[in-house]
Amino acid sequence: MQEPQGGQHFIIASGRGADRAVAARFNAYHYNQSLTIRRAIGTSTSGQRPVATGPRTDRKARRFMKIVLFGRGGQVGRELEPVLRALGRLIACGRDEADLEQPDTVRDLIRREAPDIVINAAAYTAVDRAESEPERARQINAHTVGIMAGEMARLGGWLVHYSTDYVFDGTKSGSYVETDPTGPLSVYGNTKLAGEQAIMASGCRHLIFRTSWVYATHGSNFVRTMLRLLQEREELSVVDDQVGAPTAAARIAAVTAAAVGRLAGNEQELPPSGVYHLTAGSATSWHGLAEFIAATARAEGLPLRVAPNSIRPIPSSAWPQAAKRPANSRLDTAKLRKTLGVPLPPWQEDARQIVAALIQSGRGD
Ligand SMILES: NC(=O)c1ccc[n+]([C@@H]2O[C@H](COP(=O)([O-])OP(=O)(O)OC[C@H]3O[C@@H](n4cnc5c(N)ncnc54)[C@H](OP(=O)(O)O)[C@@H]3O)[C@@H](O)[C@H]2O)c1
Repeated sequence: MQEPQGGQHFIIASGRGADRAVAARFNAYHYNQSLTIRRAIGTSTSGQRPVATGPRTDRKARRFMKIVLFGRGGQVGRELEPVLRALGRLIACGRDEADLEQPDTVRDLIRREAPDIVINAAAYTAVDRAESEPERARQINAHTVGIMAGEMARLGGWLVHYSTDYVFDGTKSGSYVETDPTGPLSVYGNTKLAGEQAIMASGCRHLIFRTSWVYATHGSNFVRTMLRLLQEREELSVVDDQVGAPTAAARIAAVTAAAVGRLAGNEQELPPSGVYHLTAGSATSWHGLAEFIAATARAEGLPLRVAPNSIRPIPSSAWPQAAKRPANSRLDTAKLRKTLGVPLPPWQEDARQIVAALIQSGRGD
């Protein structure tokens, strides 16, 4: 498994460790938690029909779309699959169906299926490893993305794609807006930016959602790593000079579903092609997120070895990593909220739910 963009590289831990088995009831619980976020945003799949979102829409004007999803096994991909199934005929692809390192497999699949929409949740997300595998990262995050975009331009369809806060250098004092100059500090950030540029150059209709600090009840992410370390270790030190918005994969999926619902509507409601910032509201540091996870876990009755207020804040310089990260990852989401009318509540709202879900399902062991 690739190391996640927001993985354990922000944590220094010491002490002994013990892995526990995954609880069997996890899947049902995980689904319910995702559903809570989707209901809040108006994209619940319970009706198994396209869901009207935003301003009044004429359901008769909607058509059942053919959607290809790449990256179905990732954090975002796994949350997307159930919501997209409710919106059209879904062809959900993992590496076996289409390998982004072999662009022909992607081109052939798109040509064979001729979808209305491609949603690309696949990416090379191992931020530090990318420094030593730049060509592989570029192939997956840029070259093949350009091919997807070219195919969708030919079909006249839409490409929905995800990008990252790491396209910025983090030196701005406020939140980044979509038109701010980019300046990636890492190979990963560079390849993700190149992917954005390839989409724009292709002329295909597109929505590029830049997000940050993604976590879910599944996959490799900071929240799950922190829950484990809080129980295993005697001491924890976490970076406190990088600020951003932890964003739940389920929230990203719900917003994506709202956007896809729009694409199925009549032409006047189509969101303009472009880049949109999609993160939870408000912001914190990795250390602030770690404290929040610990406090929530304790309130849920999880026995911890490290108390919330004893997690030590450290500067990034005390935890050298192969890839440099932006100090400021805050993204301004006003454009997306105005365009789609979707709620993006403070990050704590989804984080509380996900931490509680992990603990109550036995997955926070
Ligand atoms: N994670 C973050 O903190 C974060 C932050 C900002 C932006 N983003 C962006 O958000 C999007 C979704 O991220 P995520 O957190 O869901 O990532 P993830 O959990 O790492 O999932 C990535 C997915 O891409 C697939 N993949 C990788 N290489 C592939 C290849 N050669 N062919 C086919 N599939 C391949 C993986 O398949 P396998 O399961 O087979 O490896 C996995 O399903 C990405 O565009 C990422 O750049 C993520």
